[in-house]
Amino acid sequence: MKDYFEKLINEIESGLVKGIEPQNGILGKAMHYSLSVRGKRLRPLLFLTLIDAFEKNSLKYIDIACAIEYIHTYSLIHDDLPCMDNDDFRRGMPTVHKKFNDAIALLAGDTLLAAAFEKISFFDMPPEKVVNILKILTHSIGKNGMAGGQALDLEFNKNKKLIFKIQRKKTAELIKGTLLSGAEIVNMKEKDKDILEDVGNTIGIAFQMADDLLDIEGDEQKVGKKLHKDKINKSPNSVLYFGKDFVEKKIETSYKKSINMLKEINIDFPPFLSLIKKMVYRDR
Ligand code: IPE
Ligand code: IPE
Ligand code: MG
Ligand code: MG
Ligand code: MG
Repeated sequence: MKDYFEKLINEIESGLVKGIEPQNGILGKAMHYSLSVRGKRLRPLLFLTLIDAFEKNSLKYIDIACAIEYIHTYSLIHDDLPCMDNDDFRRGMPTVHKKFNDAIALLAGDTLLAAAFEKISFFDMPPEKVVNILKILTHSIGKNGMAGGQALDLEFNKNKKLIFKIQRKKTAELIKGTLLSGAEIVNMKEKDKDILEDVGNTIGIAFQMADDLLDIEGDEQKVGKKLHKDKINKSPNSVLYFGKDFVEKKIETSYKKSINMLKEINIDFPPFLSLIKKMVYRDR
């Protein structure tokens, strides 16, 4: 399994910077920088291992995997801006606006988003699959998805009733979209897709709860971002409002529920299952 992941990660890392040369002006430099610093690459790995659970040919789809990581990286660059979470460190390195400037960070994010959709639009596969993946991903990051969730995150105003809705929109929707994109590639049955959707929501929210825990008691070195920012920012951190015990229990039940749902749709590919576990029992 170690060799399998190493191979996928190597392909992801080289796919991410393909065609994005750091010598191409400041925008190219900023895009290249944001993609070169260590990230866990969870979303492309989820997408590829889900395909391998069915067809064992995931590397054919590496461009789509990288496009999903572009979308995620764009969301992080903007999330770190002074007008949002105002963070100076990400993935153990200065954030893009710290390394360059706010305007370039804004544009690097915009450009990664455009590059993601360009990659998918030009991908060589039946046009209806391209369109379906575009529909899935645009939905997952729009008003009812990530961007809408980020807006709610900013206007949270200590309304704890909103926390799980915010987590679903800002974080789980793109994870769900990643899974459903993989499901589109492998022609998953509609009723199985419904269950996979539920897995995406459940595991996505648990992933954000684990992120909230790390903000409070993670190892700064490993996490690669400044800790205790959520309290300072008055962010909807689930641990601050529901307590550590509650959150840890909810993570555990979410994990078990997800594994059971995956069993129900006959997904038992060990690398995919191990990723699901890694997403909720995080140390970074
Ligand atoms: C961080 O995502 C933002 C959240 C949605 C919690 P990741 O934890 O996947 O960040 P990287 O890509 O590994 O840096
Ligand atoms: C961010 O949530 C979710 C995104 C859509 C980027 P956080 O603000 O908690 O993510 P971190 O902790 O900065 O990575
Ligand atoms: Mg945020
Ligand atoms: Mg943040
Ligand atoms: Mg966080």
